[in-house]
Amino acid sequence: MADRSAALRFGTPDAAPANSSAAPDELRRDLRLIAEMIEPGVRVLDIGCGDGALLAYLAREKAVDARGIELSQSGVNACVRHGLSVIQGDADRDLDAFPAGAFDVVVLSQTLQATRRPRHVVEALVRIGKQAIVSFPNFGFWRIRLSLLWRGRMPVSELLSNSWYDTPNIHLCTIRDFVGLCDEIGTKIERSVTLDRHGRPFSLDPRGGLANLLAAADFLARAVAEINRLEPQPDITVLTGDLVAVGETPEYDHLRRILAPLPMPLFVIPGNHDAREPLRAAFGGDGYLPPDGFIQYVIEDYPLRLVALDTHIPGENGGVLCAARLAWLDEALAMAPDRPTLLMMHHPPFLTGVEHMDKSTLDNAAAFAEVVARHPQIERILCGHLHRVIDRRFAGTIAGTAPSTAHQFALNLAPGAPLRFKFEPAGYQLHLWQGGALVTHTAVIGDWPGPFSLRPTG
Ligand SMILES: [Fe+2]
Repeated sequence: MADRSAALRFGTPDAAPANSSAAPDELRRDLRLIAEMIEPGVRVLDIGCGDGALLAYLAREKAVDARGIELSQSGVNACVRHGLSVIQGDADRDLDAFPAGAFDVVVLSQTLQATRRPRHVVEALVRIGKQAIVSFPNFGFWRIRLSLLWRGRMPVSELLSNSWYDTPNIHLCTIRDFVGLCDEIGTKIERSVTLDRHGRPFSLDPRGGLANLLAAADFLARAVAEINRLEPQPDITVLTGDLVAVGETPEYDHLRRILAPLPMPLFVIPGNHDAREPLRAAFGGDGYLPPDGFIQYVIEDYPLRLVALDTHIPGENGGVLCAARLAWLDEALAMAPDRPTLLMMHHPPFLTGVEHMDKSTLDNAAAFAEVVARHPQIERILCGHLHRVIDRRFAGTIAGTAPSTAHQFALNLAPGAPLRFKFEPAGYQLHLWQGGALVTHTAVIGDWPGPFSLRPTG
């Protein structure tokens, strides 16, 4: 079926109620993403269209020919009230009546898992539409796997909110299952997007295990084991943010279990994937985090003074240090001008030349640079976020990003290059303070041949 294709979207978006009169910014994020995939003026059929939020938006903003099928009478009534052309029908039974190629785009959003014959429905979608957009909750998501493993009970989440005995979701599947079905029926997947529970997209290969699991936990466990093999042991370990994927309490619980074998003190800060309060709840017992507000703090116990910054903006990929956070930093640095100091923050305060990543660095780097330049005791600014080792001279000191303990972002400085990741070796940095200077080693994680002697034996 070379002329048939499916744009696949999957994930675990918020189950917020739809609003058919929603302004563009208010349209649910997963529906907004679907809308972005649809060209103006085309013929669209939304199967299981609910109250018509997506159709109303498409009709208004993109002048599409919008039609819908909805099983519930209340949904049909809501659509009709908004002047939409919607019929009452059943995806399992009523799609056979539509002729081949009747629509440019057919949408099946969060409905596939509730159909009795999902294979038949997907075959109907790619027969009726020149393109199909399918979204569904991923039953292979790691939280669902852990829920089954730990609790031994069918998972109940925001998206899968029913108990097993009264759920309409009778054919739950994983991303890999869906990809396998598309292969079986000869349907080409043009595009896939994975969403977190906030509706934020990831771009992952749907055939890869990472998309199915979204788990970097195994990689982190390897990093912990690698650090524990170091001789001598580091005095402290710092984690520069994005400690977990979506900022949920069970993730932080899981993280603590993975980090538990590290014997030295740990110091953490939030990244864009974190959430302040669950992070604070997980690490607050260690005694160094502020009880509320921004997660900024100073550690005085070592020859290098550690100043931790919070660049987190809830729901955003980029970061910022607002006036309050910068004032706190200025004051903290002014209190010990003679002590060599390490700053740690998630978002780097500089552009890298990797166009996609440069869209989400520190928003107000110039204001931050003014503060840094006033305090020459800053030895280094340690950042995360970019999944690559990148260094730059910055405001009289050196700023740099650490490698990821999991995947690395592909090095591609071409304008407009898409953001891709690679499984280049995972890594970490070892900072050595000796002789009044900071030396930074970047190490890769893994079992490599050697070490070999450079001198011949004998
Ligand atoms: Fe990040």
